[in-house]
Amino acid sequence: MSSENDDLRRIRALTAQLHQHNFRYYILDDPQVSDAEYDRLLRQLQSLEKRYPAAVSDDSPTQKVGASWTPEDFVADRLPPVEHDVPMLSLENAMGPDAARQWLDRVRRGLKLKEGDSDPPMTVEYKFDGVAVSILYEDGVLVRAATRGDGFTGEEVTGNVRTIRSVPQQLADEKPPARIELRGEAMLPHADFEALNQSRSAEEGLFANPRNAAAGTLRQLDPRIAAKRPLDVFIYGIGVQQGIDLSSQQQLVDQLPRWGFNASPFLRQVNGIDSLLEIYQQVLDEREQLPFDIDGLVIKVEGADLRDQLGMRARSPRWAIALKFPPLQETTRLLDIQVQVGRTGALTPVAHLEPVQVGGVTVSRAGLHNPKEIERKGLKIGDHVVIQRAGDVIPQVVKPIESLRDGTEKDFHFPEKCPACSQVVWCPEGEVIPHCQNLQCPAQIRGRIEHFASRRALDIDGLGEKLIDQLVSEGLVKTPSDLYRLNLDAVAALERMAQKSAENLIAALEQTKQRSFSRLLHALGIRHVGERVAELIVDSQRDIDTLMAASIETLEQIDEVGPAIAASVADFFSRASVRQEIESLRESGLKMKADGSSASQDSDAPLSGLTVVITGTLPNLSRDEAKALVSAAGGKVTASVSKSTDLLLAGEKAGSKLEKAQKLDVEVIDEAELRRRIDGATTS
Ligand code: IVH
Repeated sequence: MSSENDDLRRIRALTAQLHQHNFRYYILDDPQVSDAEYDRLLRQLQSLEKRYPAAVSDDSPTQKVGASWTPEDFVADRLPPVEHDVPMLSLENAMGPDAARQWLDRVRRGLKLKEGDSDPPMTVEYKFDGVAVSILYEDGVLVRAATRGDGFTGEEVTGNVRTIRSVPQQLADEKPPARIELRGEAMLPHADFEALNQSRSAEEGLFANPRNAAAGTLRQLDPRIAAKRPLDVFIYGIGVQQGIDLSSQQQLVDQLPRWGFNASPFLRQVNGIDSLLEIYQQVLDEREQLPFDIDGLVIKVEGADLRDQLGMRARSPRWAIALKFPPLQETTRLLDIQVQVGRTGALTPVAHLEPVQVGGVTVSRAGLHNPKEIERKGLKIGDHVVIQRAGDVIPQVVKPIESLRDGTEKDFHFPEKCPACSQVVWCPEGEVIPHCQNLQCPAQIRGRIEHFASRRALDIDGLGEKLIDQLVSEGLVKTPSDLYRLNLDAVAALERMAQKSAENLIAALEQTKQRSFSRLLHALGIRHVGERVAELIVDSQRDIDTLMAASIETLEQIDEVGPAIAASVADFFSRASVRQEIESLRESGLKMKADGSSASQDSDAPLSGLTVVITGTLPNLSRDEAKALVSAAGGKVTASVSKSTDLLLAGEKAGSKLEKAQKLDVEVIDEAELRRRIDGATTS
């Protein structure tokens, strides 16, 4: 027999659950239970409400027909205030390791520890850079979510929080606590932030960073908008708890994934300042690789007893501190926009900035991508701008700060003529990057030589930007092959050039004659042909004459070479000027042939001369391992099935390639058969 109390609790839980289901069904168009399950819950609620008419609330799901639900039923049109039962405090900041040390000294004094006593147990976790959110569960059911507000009163954002995938609507727990308020940070991961900003027009304005975007999303009036912006939530604390006693950070973090929340991405136990500072350095180094923003670490003394002993300051607990990282976003002035011409003739705008320190690095230039991007961001020369660094990426101008304009800012007009050679600029249809088409443009020549000499291409020691500049402007070098015709005296006669440096350059050029054919191919700077594609091409087209004679169809048969790369290679070698340049390089003694013979040329190899396509999931081999095995056995792996395919190596879930192979009568084998053919041939 259930008690009246249990029944009333059940009414509340069913009401909340049905609310969620209505919301998912009618507002988000994304139901999470079957209609039958929904009806079952509704009938249960109806029969309980019949027994307890006084418990029927005005907004009970039994009182309203579903289709008339509106977003406002879930989030009122002005976000209503929510008083926090336990205030949502903030954290004291420590701006670096020294301040963290001072905090720990205060903690030791607060706990009356003596010299020689060890430090109290502490945890270290990420300080997530998003928006604080409080999520209340009653009997395991999400009933309310709120922002932090001023710490005492926040705003209700239940509907928006219900759209967040990493927030369970119901705690996965057979015996959930009667009441628990979980606190965490709502964030927008970088990839989703970029996508969101890309989709916004100049009028809507760009979000300066994921935190602003998360805040704007959480406070949306219409949860359908929030649903389109995939917020994520990481829980880091507890407000109210009844019917459970999670008294340490470790206990909370262990419990969260069991309830259906994200596991904490980072939690370490520490018991001394040294290990703490080691972690600080480690996370500082790694943070730019994370898929979301963090702005420091939060250090918390572990355990309710010690926390109680330490107590609170006015607005922050004494038992925790935020150890902040230097920010990766800064504001500075946009002094000018200059246009650079690359080796392919692409014209790219570059922002010249008043130098500013960003996360420990001085930034004075930033990429602006293309003219459309400048327009979209609405940048004017002289603007105060937000700039940011992330990872190894070139610094970016995020947006102008329009409120700081004083009318002296100037519009930027993209040049109609190439700034290096004054030829009219052309923007291919459907592309956003304007090009200079003059192959003799000095900026392009410089770019091509720089690429040819670069470390991953022919790696010409001592041939840097400045020297290239001199060689090109003196008219000594127009194409890479001109480098090999340079004579010592001419180089030594250049301004600021010592005899010894000139000798070194000639010797370095001599050394490049030992570099592999694939590096030369990469160095030629063919559009779409980077280091890896050059290697793949050379794997199948073993010398320059075979390669120059290859048709687009032949090139497309090379693994990972699609129509765009194939067309670009064929087009490159069809130009008379290129053929002439290749002859000059050949005469200079550069390698035009792959070293050694590949297995595909060894006619005794078990798969010699066979073209093999791989598809589906193989039982034991990864795709790369299978490719390596086939190549080592003399087979040529290509990407798509055609009449010239000899074998299809098919694993599980082989799709359209298998169908095509069957249609074309191509022999299909599995991994075991491949092994038999290779091993059978080598052991017999
Ligand atoms: S604990 C009593 N842990 O930082 C204070 N806060 O500056 C409880 N934050 O409003 C906060 N990551 O929004 C805590 N791992 C973390 C956090 C974190 C981010 C935010 C939180 C808070 C602000 C305080």
